[in-house]
Amino acid sequence: MPNETISIPRTVGIIGGTGPAGRAFAARLAGAGIDVAIGSRSVEKAQEATSKVLERWPDESLSIRAVTNEEAALAELVVVATPWAAAASTAAACADALRGKVVISMANAITMIEGELQPVIPARGSISAGVQSAIPGSYVVGAMHHVPAHELGDLRRPVGCDVLVCADDPGARASVISLLSQLDGLRPVDAGSLSNAAAIEAMTAVLLGVNSRYGTRTTIRLVGLPG
Ligand SMILES: NC(=O)c1ccc[n+]([C@@H]2O[C@H](COP(=O)([O-])OP(=O)(O)OC[C@H]3O[C@@H](n4cnc5c(N)ncnc54)[C@H](OP(=O)(O)O)[C@@H]3O)[C@@H](O)[C@H]2O)c1
Repeated sequence: MPNETISIPRTVGIIGGTGPAGRAFAARLAGAGIDVAIGSRSVEKAQEATSKVLERWPDESLSIRAVTNEEAALAELVVVATPWAAAASTAAACADALRGKVVISMANAITMIEGELQPVIPARGSISAGVQSAIPGSYVVGAMHHVPAHELGDLRRPVGCDVLVCADDPGARASVISLLSQLDGLRPVDAGSLSNAAAIEAMTAVLLGVNSRYGTRTTIRLVGLPG
């Protein structure tokens, strides 16, 4: 990935964008003036999801369209927002369109064991690393794991949390940090290489457990950073 120029992508495609996380991310990105393509395995489902977002925010001029996952992969920057078990295989199916691009992996591998959500250690240690291995010609960046869809999708309020951003390619990491800095109330934090995705993804199970015990929707806010 060329490190020299860090520019904000004009278009973002969201593979598996019809779920709560994809729709919320689409709304927030479009609210920042980015053209967003919500992708799905079914265009009808993408249309429903797109209408849901646009109808919720009639006074915002959001540029969001409904497409297939394959079409979403044609955007400048692409997000994989499927459940964790499908992330690598779904990305692999779009490998040609994703080659040379920055791809955000936001999936958390979590399962319910004896009534508690617990982290699953997937092949290669994290979902982000698994996605990277499935699309070696792309620059996978782990991000957004701890951002609750409810807060992300509420354009009336700043999101109010930090986002740990990790990638092996420093240019890709920097470009996602630039993108996320455009979103109201998100503070992206450089979290180093993709090997840290294992800890970042697993932490989500801890947060969800806290949420369930305290009846909250906690997220991550680091203290002690400059600024
Ligand atoms: N929800 C949150 O607050 C949140 C926050 C941070 C991170 N995340 C992560 O973001 C990802 C998406 O979360 P979500 O809650 O939006 O998930 P979701 O609703 O379960 O799934 C998102 C979309 O993925 C597609 N999908 C489902 N199964 C699939 C399969 N087997 N193969 C290919 N596509 C499939 C579906 O779209 P189509 O049927 O339209 O293709 C579905 O609408 C998850 O990995 C989650 O860990 C979620």
